Amino acid sequence: DWTAESFVEQTVQHLRQRLGNDRVVMALSGGVDSTVAATLVHQAIGPNLFCIFVDNGLLRKDEFEEVLHSYQDMGLNIKGVDAKEHFYKALAGLTDPEAKRKAIGKSFIDIFDQEAHLIEEVKWLGQGTIYPDVIESVSINGPSATIKSHHNVGGLPDFMKLKIVEPLNTLFKDEVRAVGKTLGIDPKILGRHPFPGPGLAIRILGEITPEKVAILQQVDAIFIGGLRKWNLYEDVWQAGVMLLPVQSVGVMGDERTYESVVALRAVTSIDGMTADWAHLPYVFLAEVSNEIINRVKGVNRVVYDISSKPPATIEWE
Ligand code: XMP
Repeated sequence: DWTAESFVEQTVQHLRQRLGNDRVVMALSGGVDSTVAATLVHQAIGPNLFCIFVDNGLLRKDEFEEVLHSYQDMGLNIKGVDAKEHFYKALAGLTDPEAKRKAIGKSFIDIFDQEAHLIEEVKWLGQGTIYPDVIESVSINGPSATIKSHHNVGGLPDFMKLKIVEPLNTLFKDEVRAVGKTLGIDPKILGRHPFPGPGLAIRILGEITPEKVAILQQVDAIFIGGLRKWNLYEDVWQAGVMLLPVQSVGVMGDERTYESVVALRAVTSIDGMTADWAHLPYVFLAEVSNEIINRVKGVNRVVYDISSKPPATIEWE
């Protein structure tokens, strides 16, 4: 019978044998999979695991600092890399969703390649690939999978010549969470909603600017914070906010305003392949909407997305 305890024991032992004194480099995303994979490798080889966590400027509010600190607390040998400007530059002027994804994927590879070169004699690339990624092999840009899905971007970066180690590639998500729990990883990390690799870039419809990112981060923090405060976070599979490229008329005092519209999105799902919009309580939506409009400058209208997947997708881009 499969148990998380025996999986951890066997995997750590196996990794130790396989990796010996070799050095491993891994990109972490703050998500469940890469965190659990890194923790296993770390248990096996300690400081010979070199972790890289990239700030692409498209993460949730304060997320880079918070996640970096929790990685440091876990004892991981982790380097935080501020690459915000690199990503914003690559995204400037782009509006097509696939073009944005490609620019992000390529920027990520550039940064990762540059950082991996700074580590001497690294032999392995660790990845948080899980079993569904193996069978699906869809294009995902998250650090765990980006590296594979962008082979075609202008020749192979050097780090792709590394040997691959993927300790979770036989597990399903719930098993990964069980392993993470056994490893003592913070439940807040293990219980996190999925978050797309391209981050807020695919929730800002149209062109990305640092100003729009800042607005969306504020709105998103109010929505997600509200879900936690109302104990609704665990009832939904994923939640986020879309910043629409639309201005609408509003009124503030005796002035007319002409500002942005945001769409709240929350879904229930098993695996993200199909999803239903979450039937969140009206009182909750009312409170969140008021708070957003009162506190976030530049937003004067909030709508709630009541579309299911299919035919609507979870993200709007
Ligand atoms: P959709 O929008 O297709 O999303 O219903 C299904 C799940 O996949 C995530 N998603 C992505 N994840 N790179 C990722 O790493 C992407 O380009 C991407 N697009 C969508 C989405 O957040 C949801 O969990």
